Amino acid sequence: MKIIHTEAELESIRGSGVFVPTMGALHAGHGALVRRGAQISKERGLGGVVVSVFVNPTQFNEQADFARYPRTLNADAEIAAACGAGWLFAPEVSTMYPGGLTEGVPALPRSATEPKLEDMHRPGHFAGVCQVVRRLFELVRPRVAVFGEKDWQQLAVVREMTSMLGMPVEVVGFQTVREADGLAMSSRNVFLTAEHRARSVAISRALRAACLERDRDAAESRMAATLAECGIEAEYAVVRDARTLTSPSAATREWRALIAARLGKVRLIDNASWTQGLSA
Ligand code: PAF
Repeated sequence: MKIIHTEAELESIRGSGVFVPTMGALHAGHGALVRRGAQISKERGLGGVVVSVFVNPTQFNEQADFARYPRTLNADAEIAAACGAGWLFAPEVSTMYPGGLTEGVPALPRSATEPKLEDMHRPGHFAGVCQVVRRLFELVRPRVAVFGEKDWQQLAVVREMTSMLGMPVEVVGFQTVREADGLAMSSRNVFLTAEHRARSVAISRALRAACLERDRDAAESRMAATLAECGIEAEYAVVRDARTLTSPSAATREWRALIAARLGKVRLIDNASWTQGLSA
């Protein structure tokens, strides 16, 4: 696997590869995305997998969160290579934003402004995500890009933005990888104290418990109650239309239960398919 930093070094893979964008601090969840990318590349005869590692300053709401975000490029390179990546692209800020940090923010899709989920709790976050993903897509020009389902709203936003911009990239989602007790893997989990780590299991438990309820209000109350049992007050614990992320309507065919909660200084998000009245 080649570690590269410049636009010129992407030349050989441009237009033919599968892309896995990350902010580094790779864990088994990212590893699964890279392996899925390698599988897609092989199945479709594409040119291999590019993993990017770029801690994007424009998508953080808090400077402290940006400053402490783990930076582990050597370990990232080992994981990416072991999972089948051909290139690890780690650009400088000047390569990403040659005209400055405010350059190239596209018009935001509805999924980035209407749900009042991550968009409300992290103002400006999706502007930064759209800006960086658009720029990465321009640089890498992938045929397929793989994103984790843990960031369900981000996946919806990236899909909608890509289609609005008419970019020829197929955006593929891949299932969340979990710890043995159900906690969704995240680069921020390393910052949980032992006590918060123990309580964090309530999040995935709440998502499963929601599926025991037959209607949406009951499912939302059940999630709040399950979280409260572990002393967690959610930023949101809701059931939404899986595609638009807004309130379900008569047209809704798939539902998604979504939770965001702070445990100490760490903000965790998770989601799962919600199917009415299925046993957990
Ligand atoms: O999901 C992430 O890690 C980031 O939001 C992404 C998509 C790499 C953009 O910086």
